[in-house]
Amino acid sequence: MKWGPVNPVRLLHKNWYGRRSPPWVFFRSEPPLSRVAYVNGRYLSRRDASVNIEDRGYQFADGVYELCEVREGRLIDERRHIERLRRSLNELKIAWPLAPSALAVVMRETIRRNRVYNGIVYVQVTRGVARRDHAFPPAGTPSSIVVTARSLDPAANERLAAEGIAVITVPDDRWSRVDIKTIALLPNVLAKQSARSQGAREAWLVDQEGRVTEGSSTNAWIVTTDGKVVTRPADNGILRGITRSVLIDALKVQGLVFEERAFSITEAHAAREAFVTAASQIVMPVVRIDGRLVGDGKPGPVATALRRDFHRHAEWA
Ligand code: PDD
Repeated sequence: MKWGPVNPVRLLHKNWYGRRSPPWVFFRSEPPLSRVAYVNGRYLSRRDASVNIEDRGYQFADGVYELCEVREGRLIDERRHIERLRRSLNELKIAWPLAPSALAVVMRETIRRNRVYNGIVYVQVTRGVARRDHAFPPAGTPSSIVVTARSLDPAANERLAAEGIAVITVPDDRWSRVDIKTIALLPNVLAKQSARSQGAREAWLVDQEGRVTEGSSTNAWIVTTDGKVVTRPADNGILRGITRSVLIDALKVQGLVFEERAFSITEAHAAREAFVTAASQIVMPVVRIDGRLVGDGKPGPVATALRRDFHRHAEWA
């Protein structure tokens, strides 16, 4: 991969979404590994970055996170991600580790220091460091924060989307507050590993009524045989994905028929198309569910069009 200073004239040109790249994007492309992490007020080399063994994130998974796409050096839907972080922190009564405006600066600086042009920025906040006790630590204990950023290869993602992915289904045995984006992800980890060990990329979680809730790290969608686009309502049973919310707006603009309701695994097996959404993958077509082909086994036109148009509906910051 070629990387190095961008021709300064290029910064004045609009990219193909009709927007200018910000001046802090000095690199066309980036080295494959991220190198700097922001940890509680300091930018550290990844080798030296560590957290206290009594951090409540480490001991109790007592924390929350956000993951935001970086595209052409810009943050995608930052406002909504920060809003969801606010909600997660409020629900768990964790204090902001720094002012939201300062967090916005730290996110950009972490992206810049890691020379991420296309990739992700990850923010994790925990209830801080305290002697191990299940109850909350004394008032005033500062929250801990870590911010990292990493490059992703957009071409590899496009190749995957052109092929589509396989998913398996597993029982959803998570707690009842999966609407909070907590770092407590053990059921998701186990579900994802089941998928990997069966040669699939994602596991769809299925509730006790046989209805799909969401993927282990994605929201789940189908297109029915009569062309309706269906995804589960964002109640307490799923995470309200930012990609999901933007896509609902995009669907309406495109005049597609949208139904926000739970769908069964049987309905998914019979669907014309299926796909998953997440900030790191946008819209990823699903071509196989539990070993059965979805439609003709190729990415469908609805998923493909939504993937192509997604960033026109997203907010660029
Ligand atoms: N996952 N559902 C779950 C369980 C998730 O973990 C995610 C995101 C989503 C999609 O949310 P969004 O569109 O806001 O990315 C749905 C992130 C990417 C992760 O854990 O890596």
